Amino acid sequence: MTQASPEPARRELGMIGLGVMGRNLLLNFAEHGFPVAGYDQDPAKVEALRREAAGLDVAGAADLAALVAGLRTPRALMLLVPAGAAVDAVIAGLAPLLAPGDLIIDGGNSHFKDTDRRALELAGTGLQFLGLGISGGEEGARRGPSLMPGGTPEAYARIRPLLEAVAARVGPEPCVAHLGPGSAGHYVKMVHNGIEYALMELIAESYDLMKRALGLNNREIASAFRDWSEHGPGGFLMETTARIFTRKDPGTGHELVDAILPVARQKGTGLWTSQSAMELQVPAPTIDLAVAQRDLSALDSEREQASRVLPRPLKTRNGDSAEGLRELNQALQVGILMAFAQGMALLRAASERYGYGLDLAAVARVWRGGCIIRIPLLEDLRQAYGRTPGLANPLLDPDLAGQVLVREEGLRSVVCAGALLGVPIPGLMSALAYLDGYRSAWLPANLIQAQRDSFGAHGYQRLDRPGNFHTAWDQEDQR
Ligand code: 6PG
Repeated sequence: MTQASPEPARRELGMIGLGVMGRNLLLNFAEHGFPVAGYDQDPAKVEALRREAAGLDVAGAADLAALVAGLRTPRALMLLVPAGAAVDAVIAGLAPLLAPGDLIIDGGNSHFKDTDRRALELAGTGLQFLGLGISGGEEGARRGPSLMPGGTPEAYARIRPLLEAVAARVGPEPCVAHLGPGSAGHYVKMVHNGIEYALMELIAESYDLMKRALGLNNREIASAFRDWSEHGPGGFLMETTARIFTRKDPGTGHELVDAILPVARQKGTGLWTSQSAMELQVPAPTIDLAVAQRDLSALDSEREQASRVLPRPLKTRNGDSAEGLRELNQALQVGILMAFAQGMALLRAASERYGYGLDLAAVARVWRGGCIIRIPLLEDLRQAYGRTPGLANPLLDPDLAGQVLVREEGLRSVVCAGALLGVPIPGLMSALAYLDGYRSAWLPANLIQAQRDSFGAHGYQRLDRPGNFHTAWDQEDQR
């Protein structure tokens, strides 16, 4: 560890924001042979970097000017600060210290519309800007994240060797790709998080059914999730979930999971995904419900009251729990596929609307390793988009459709059981409703059109001839 300011300007990247993500990513760059430097307004964080970077070519800078002075030109600076006003404040302090051609990378979970605004503002100053989605949490940042950059090709070219070096790998392929212009990277990361919310909700509902419908204890639940992580659906969230159920609370000696207040928090990216899906008129009900269930969990005192005003004892499921688990596994697999179908369909619509030119096979490839939603299904999605790049929805791919058809009865049984027993499983229910709605060549929207026309004269189209029609619905039938 050396001081940045007196040395020649040779460092490849300067990191601003040395929270655990920024620090870990910086150490990851250094471990791959890139001399780097870091700055944080909190000197204790620079000190923490100094301690952890022993033996690596990492400098700690006392201020922004010193950080900038140590970088080779054109300079590359990455921000890992909380999304929102902090990003604008750091850019405002940094931009005057930079020269045209220098690159600012925002590695936080910024809203994609903020990223577009910033790219536009900075383009006027000659500075390059890249919105970089990073997934994988602290461990991913240190050992190999999934990286989702968006911006101009020149901006990406400057940082590409560094990103490819530190990204997670699946075989020889690094989990990074230049996804498109402007906010493409942050948009893809936002949808990643929307899918993350949906998968977490579906897994939590499976836990609820195992606990309250099948009457399993934490040891049995851990073993079911372990089995599912090995034999399907697999993936990072399944492995993590299996581990959670075996962790003991050192204070009580009981499983820690039972001591955690059941109120889910959120930082907003799932909500943004739902908002964007509504705006683009893309149905994403499983993501919507995942956000809504976090909100419902937060109404804890109201729910406590309602449990007394609206009492209904929960029933448990009769019969073999092995059969119950088999159906639940099928239900979860279909539910997960529906969440990805909704997210990918949203990406397709956003790509058209915002001109991202997304290659959805590349998105699936980048998500196969390092990120929170990594799961073997992503390889099937990558292949489906490889076969048909313009696929409107993954469910139209014969291979993925086949995966649904062999498992959907399990989802149906589980949804029926949840409804009859009184276990709330809106994510799984929405997944089934989405599947049945999407595959239904006819929907009762003719009635909605007739209703709209009858009270608002909004008109309707007919199946048997072209044109716009209106009926005076309250007058007697003329024939
Ligand atoms: C990731 C995660 C991460 C996200 C957290 C918390 O990909 O590494 O998506 O970016 O911030 O999972 O999100 P919530 O607080 O909204 O649950």
